[in-house]
Amino acid sequence: MISCCGLHKTYGTNGASGPSILADVSLSLSRGEFACILGPSGCGKTTLLNLIAGFTHPTSGSLRFRDQEITGPGPERGVVFQEATLFPWLTVQKNVAFGLHQMGQPGKTCAEEALHHLALVGMADHARAYPHTLSGGMKQRVAIARVLALKPDVLLMDEPFSALDANTRERLQDELLKLWGRFGQTVVYVTHSVEEAAFLADRVIVMGPSPCNIRADKPISLPRPRTRYSPEMEAVVRDLRRELNALPCCIGPTRVDA
Ligand SMILES: Nc1ncnc2c1ncn2[C@@H]1O[C@H](COP(=O)(O)OP(=O)(O)O)[C@@H](O)[C@H]1O
Ligand SMILES: [Mg+2]
Repeated sequence: MISCCGLHKTYGTNGASGPSILADVSLSLSRGEFACILGPSGCGKTTLLNLIAGFTHPTSGSLRFRDQEITGPGPERGVVFQEATLFPWLTVQKNVAFGLHQMGQPGKTCAEEALHHLALVGMADHARAYPHTLSGGMKQRVAIARVLALKPDVLLMDEPFSALDANTRERLQDELLKLWGRFGQTVVYVTHSVEEAAFLADRVIVMGPSPCNIRADKPISLPRPRTRYSPEMEAVVRDLRRELNALPCCIGPTRVDA
């Protein structure tokens, strides 16, 4: 579904090349796979996701979606950010309908589709509300509905639940897994949480800094539905934590202890 080969990224100004952000990243993601990209802050996770989203371009290397070079954003690759970026002047339903309008669908269909996708994330009762009246978790549900409404093949999620309280985060993780079980998108989910990666992923891609690239690629074969607290889950968490602890830290000497 997605293939990155020998990706390099530098952010230069005025034609000068800056420091290397991604160095030689190669990765293939299959259809329907739930992949977590795990790594410390600053190791290039968002940069890699933004490249796949088409928001930015590689300095060198190739980046393909279904054998086509990625040249920009597209509705087949939906992005959910850490903070929901809803339009404050539109109701929840109109926020979800917005992308459908942009794609040229008639108004009535957009409104119906928007409501249907709000129902999928448990937000149909709030269709007429404005974003400022919603909690962080509710906004993130709307952001997910907005992306799902475009029926993407790939969901790109950049620490989507990390700003939420632990309870809400766990509920949204459960609901995301249900939606994924139902629609079977390919998911690329960025996180710095070992527990989150172990709970969600079919496969955890561990990134490290200096140079920013992939250090480990681990299948997680725990059966689904998973329980968060089991000896098997703890073993996976320990193993991933060991991988992270082996990395130099990008932002200081602190290490996470196992
Ligand atoms: N637009 C940009 N211009 C210059 N440097 C950037 C830009 N975006 C990210 N970086 C740098 O790239 C590195 C990786 O950033 P990022 O991909 O956001 O990491 P992560 O998501 O893993 O925390 C960081 O050192 C960051 O400062
Ligand atoms: Mg990031």
